[in-house]
Amino acid sequence: MAEIRTKRLNDYLRLIDIARDLASTLDLDILLARIVHAAVEISGAEAASILLYDDTSRQLYFLVSTNIDEPTRRGLIVPLDGSIAGWIVNNRKPVRIMNVHKDPRFYSTIEAITGLATRSLLGIPLVTKNKIVGVLEALNKPKGRFTDKDETLLLVLGAQAAIAIENARLFQQSDLISEFVHELRTPLSSLSTATYLLLRPEMPPERRDQIIQNIHAETIRLNALASSFLDLARLESGRVQFRKTLFNLADLMFECRDVIASKALEENIQLKVESPEELPLLEADRDKIKQVILNLLSNAVKYSRPKGTVILGAEVIDNEIAIFIQDTGVGIPDESLPHIFEKFYRVREHETRASGSGLGLSICKQIIHGHGGRIEVKSKLGEGTVLMVFLPRSRKTQPREEEKSNAKNPDKK
Ligand SMILES: Nc1ncnc2c1ncn2[C@@H]1O[C@H](COP(=O)(O)OP(=O)(O)OP(=O)(O)O)[C@@H](O)[C@H]1O
Ligand SMILES: [Mg+2]
Repeated sequence: MAEIRTKRLNDYLRLIDIARDLASTLDLDILLARIVHAAVEISGAEAASILLYDDTSRQLYFLVSTNIDEPTRRGLIVPLDGSIAGWIVNNRKPVRIMNVHKDPRFYSTIEAITGLATRSLLGIPLVTKNKIVGVLEALNKPKGRFTDKDETLLLVLGAQAAIAIENARLFQQSDLISEFVHELRTPLSSLSTATYLLLRPEMPPERRDQIIQNIHAETIRLNALASSFLDLARLESGRVQFRKTLFNLADLMFECRDVIASKALEENIQLKVESPEELPLLEADRDKIKQVILNLLSNAVKYSRPKGTVILGAEVIDNEIAIFIQDTGVGIPDESLPHIFEKFYRVREHETRASGSGLGLSICKQIIHGHGGRIEVKSKLGEGTVLMVFLPRSRKTQPREEEKSNAKNPDKK
C-alpha cells in the first residue's frame, strides 16, 4: 500500500517537472514533441499523438506522434465525424477503449498511414479557457488496459499542455504580426507622401502621372506582401494540408519556364531547362512545388546580371530528387548566406536593384520542409547562386530490392 502511495506521489512530482518543462518553451514544434513524450511516460503507453483543432476551419489535423515520421504526419486531416478524436472534440470528454477495431468511431485510415497497429486507446480533450485546442491520445497499453489513474494523470498533463499550446500559438502569431506591421510602414508612408504631393495644386501634370504610377506600383507590392504573408502564416501554423499526387516533374519545370520566360527576355537573360530523360515521377503537392520553383526562378532573374543565364534542372541522387536553380547573377555575400531563409530578410545591397518582401524563400523553406525535404544555397559574390531543393523520392517509384541487386550484378538472372 505504502509502495503504491510512493509511486503515485512520484508520478505527481514528475508531472510538476513536466509542467515546468512545458512552460519553458514557446516553440510549438518543441512543445508538442515534449507533450507526446510526457504522455507516453506517464501513461505507460506504446505511443502518443496530438491532433490540433482549428476552430475557424473546423478541422482536426494530426500533428505529432512519437511513432511516425515528420512528412507523413503533418497536417493530415482527421474527420470530425467518423473518428475517435473527432468524437472527443465534439463531446469534450475523455475516452478509454480496450480495442479500437471494435469501435465504430475508429478512423482506420490513420492506422494505414502511421503503420502502428492500434489496440487500446486513451484520449482526452485539450481544453483551455473553455476552448478546445486539440486531442491528446495515448495508444496501446502493453499489459492490459488503461486505468483510472492513467486517465487522471493524462488529464492533468492535458490541462498544462493546452495552456502551453495556446500560449505558443499566440506568441507565434504576435511575433509574425508585429513583423508584418513593421513591414507595412515603409510602403504606407510612401503612399501617404505620394497622395500629399498629388494634392498640391502647383504640381505639374507630368509629375502627377509619375506619382500615380508610383502609387500603382506600391499598391501592387502591398498586395503581394499581404498574400505572401498569409501564405507564410498558414504554413507556419501547420494548417496547410499538402495534397500529394504523383506527377511528371519535367513537365512542371517547362511550365514554370514558360511563366518566367517573358520576364527573362525583358532582362535579357537566357533561361534553360535541363532534366534527364528518365526522371521518376515526383510525389508531392504539385501546386506548392510550382510555387517554390517559380519563387526561385523569379529570384534568379531578379538578382541577375546583364546577359546572364539561368538553368532550371533536376536529377536523382540516391533516394532523393534534387531540383536546382542556377544563375550567373550578382551572388550573395557570405555573411548574408545564413540569413536568406529568414522571414523579411533581404540582402542590403540588393534592396535598390529589385523590390521584394523578403518572404519568398521563407515560404519555399516551409513548403519543402513540409514535404520532408530540405533546401540549400551556394553562392559566390559577383559570380552567381545556386538554390537546391531535395525531396524524398516516393516509395512508389523506387526500384524494388531485386531490381537494385540486378542492376548491381547484371549477369545474375
Ligand atoms: N538567386 C539569388 N541571387 C542573389 N540573391 C538572392 C537570390 N535569391 C535570393 N537572394 C537574396 O535573398 C533575399 C531573400 O530572398 P526572398 O526570395 O526571400 O525575398 P525577395 O526576393 O527579396 O522578396 P519576395 O518575397 O518578393 O520573394 C533576397 O532579397 C536577395 O537579397
Ligand atoms: Mg524572392
